[in-house]
Amino acid sequence: MHNTRKISESIIWVGASDRRLALFENMFPLERGVAYNSYLILDEKTALIDTVDNSISRQFIDNILFALAGRQLDYLVVNHMEPDHCANIEELLLRFPNMQIVGNAKTFKLIDNFYDFNAAGNYLEVKEGDSLSLGKHSLSFYYAPMVHWPEVMVTYESCEKILFSADAFGSFGALSGNIFNDEVDFERDWLADARRYYANIVGKYGVQVQAALKKLSALEIKTICPLHGLVWRSELDCLLGKYDLWSRYEPEDRAVCIIYGSMYGNTENAANVLACRLAEGGLKNIAMYDIASTDISMLIAEIFRCSHIVLAAPTYNAGIYPPMLNLLHDMKALNVQNRTVALIENGSWAPGSAKQMRALLEEMKDMRVLESALTLSSSLKEEGLAALHSLGDELLESLK
Ligand code: FEO
Repeated sequence: MHNTRKISESIIWVGASDRRLALFENMFPLERGVAYNSYLILDEKTALIDTVDNSISRQFIDNILFALAGRQLDYLVVNHMEPDHCANIEELLLRFPNMQIVGNAKTFKLIDNFYDFNAAGNYLEVKEGDSLSLGKHSLSFYYAPMVHWPEVMVTYESCEKILFSADAFGSFGALSGNIFNDEVDFERDWLADARRYYANIVGKYGVQVQAALKKLSALEIKTICPLHGLVWRSELDCLLGKYDLWSRYEPEDRAVCIIYGSMYGNTENAANVLACRLAEGGLKNIAMYDIASTDISMLIAEIFRCSHIVLAAPTYNAGIYPPMLNLLHDMKALNVQNRTVALIENGSWAPGSAKQMRALLEEMKDMRVLESALTLSSSLKEEGLAALHSLGDELLESLK
């Protein structure tokens, strides 16, 4: 049975959600599933904006056939060629052999890379700023390279002032009938997943996101239709503001996130003692995570949110405790910058993880690592308390 919603009288959401997938991109845990959005525009000509993942193909085809009500599909716009959005191109070609596939030169190269079908005769290449009239509705195409793939473009419909934004402004999380931002409590139920999606999928490309935001600021946009998550038809400034902060690597919150690794509980104990010192100094909403039991994508999202980070790790094989080393490599890969960091190391005979963590942090841009790292020799003792308190006080001072 079809399962669609109207974006407007002429534009229909024909996407669906997957609550069975455990790992997005076979990496990122999906606690709330994920939605794959696709949009059908009905005018003198019909146009579909992107397709969906294989996992929901049947629902997607049911939705399109219902929404087309016997009409042909004239255009398929491919804003993004990652397989979670283009898995149904061949199926559509079989059903609508005259359909034109709208994309740019890089789009068509990727289609040919991924698939064996020969659709070259259906290609309609567009360049930056080109327009395509559907009747009353008109589509314009703007390149958004490396947000987060090279072929990515966004499509603007000028009659209803809708931006089809590809992965930009997307989120993890399945849709539950409510597909619009004004039908849910975004801050409570969606923001964490939107941030985790941005930080891990798009986070590396802040410069390119800033360029896209600048380009889009020239357009009057009333609705944003991304490929994942909610459709935004109100309070666009809220979403655009978050994207602006994230892509400039500015923290959202003046807050501390403590991330510790601990083999026998001793580094964890020091992290807890530090957290209480911070709390007694008046700090609220301290976030704290055991790196061994928290998915790295959650930690990256928290690092994007918080202004101050504490990293506490044992020394292991004369290096950094491996999960912490992995986190530091991921931070660098995602271009994390502009944070204040305090370090705690532990080592029973040759503590060395703080020095190595500091060196990796110094490879990132604008990272302020507090001078006084705390060194534990196996466990925190009475004589180490003063140093821990002074680290806490330095952190509190830097939060002012
Ligand atoms: Fe949702 Fe970049 O694919």
